[in-house]
Amino acid sequence: MEYINNELCLGPLKKPLLPLVANYMRPIYVYDLDSVAQRYQAMSQALKGTRLFFAVKSNPNPGVLQKLKSLGAGADVVSLGEIKRALECGFSPQDIVYSGVGKTKFEVTEALKLGIYQINVESLPELERIGMLGRELKKKAQVALRLNPDVDINTHPYIATGLKDNKFGMERSMVPALVKCLKNYSDSIDLVGVSLHLGSQMLEFSGYDEALKRLKSVYLELQAEFPTLKKFDFGGGLGIFYDRVDLQLEESLLQKYAQITLENLSDLNCELQAEPGRWLVAHCGALITQVQYIKETSAKTFVIVDAGMNHLIRPSLYEATHRIEPLKRKDTAFVVDVVGPICESSDFFAKEISLTKVQEGDFVAIMDSGAYGYSMASVYNLQELPLEICI
Ligand code: LLP
Repeated sequence: MEYINNELCLGPLKKPLLPLVANYMRPIYVYDLDSVAQRYQAMSQALKGTRLFFAVKSNPNPGVLQKLKSLGAGADVVSLGEIKRALECGFSPQDIVYSGVGKTKFEVTEALKLGIYQINVESLPELERIGMLGRELKKKAQVALRLNPDVDINTHPYIATGLKDNKFGMERSMVPALVKCLKNYSDSIDLVGVSLHLGSQMLEFSGYDEALKRLKSVYLELQAEFPTLKKFDFGGGLGIFYDRVDLQLEESLLQKYAQITLENLSDLNCELQAEPGRWLVAHCGALITQVQYIKETSAKTFVIVDAGMNHLIRPSLYEATHRIEPLKRKDTAFVVDVVGPICESSDFFAKEISLTKVQEGDFVAIMDSGAYGYSMASVYNLQELPLEICI
């Protein structure tokens, strides 16, 4: 992000955003695909030899998915809807890892018929369901066991997934029962991998390091019994900075993350896989919205924009900070709350921030919203979904 002649520009090629609002109708998510490519390449280089399966839930926009496919990414999906989207965007079933705690019979059946590359299993009953359906369909499921190592990564509680009171993954103590089930279904299941995902927006790696160590010993134990086991999927979760622009520090955190990963796992001589979402696409996106009113009260100045919590829920749901930048920068600033039109007091984008002195009709961009922005949007209050544009 940069201003050229006081106009906001996005991505490594510094593309101006102002032309996008020439025929403005409603809030627009804009995604810079060069930024996606740059991040993908940086992560692939750092995690040498790891196959990256992009977490589709973070941004299922077809332009973004096609770009990532063209760069060599696979897709990490969590529903039949995401499988269909990935296939429509050029991914093959062999490019898809299928995660999620609640796969229905219908979804498992479709995944088996399609020959999905890897199903990450999250519970014993799910493993049994896959075994039974595989048997009926005479298909052999390729499964990875998602283990829950019970470690803390110091993130927001709503996006932590690797603690024992989370619904995700399976405890180590489940391994004997899982082995028994895998052996019962040896005609319809191949155990091909072990997987983990500890949560999202991870910026410190001691818990992650510990988790890799714990899972490595499980991997070795399972390998002794299942010669088909050859993949270690270490999930996603690498975080970014939302409150400032510091790409250099993000790059050094990426290096640290890669170093811990490779130091722990290289000697397993297995195929390494990751499921990154946010790190690849958050910075590529911005939500452009128009100022409707400046409302003064005895307590505050509110900048009321036409985007709401229904378009970008992260500030309301996780108290996430997204920087807000005017499309056209001016000299003076004021301290304001930036809020939307939705009938909830949690409908805010920022509180008590210093913003360029915008007025009715001006545009602002809510930054770093390329991940978990549009994909979490709703039509609450019957507000229309935002538009999406790739540049
Ligand atoms: N793999 C699995 C199994 C996941 O559940 C997730 C994210 C990822 C990979 C990708 O994680 P990432 O690299 O993007 O951190 N809506 C929240 C984030 C929820 C993450 C859900 N799972 C937010 O806006 O912060």
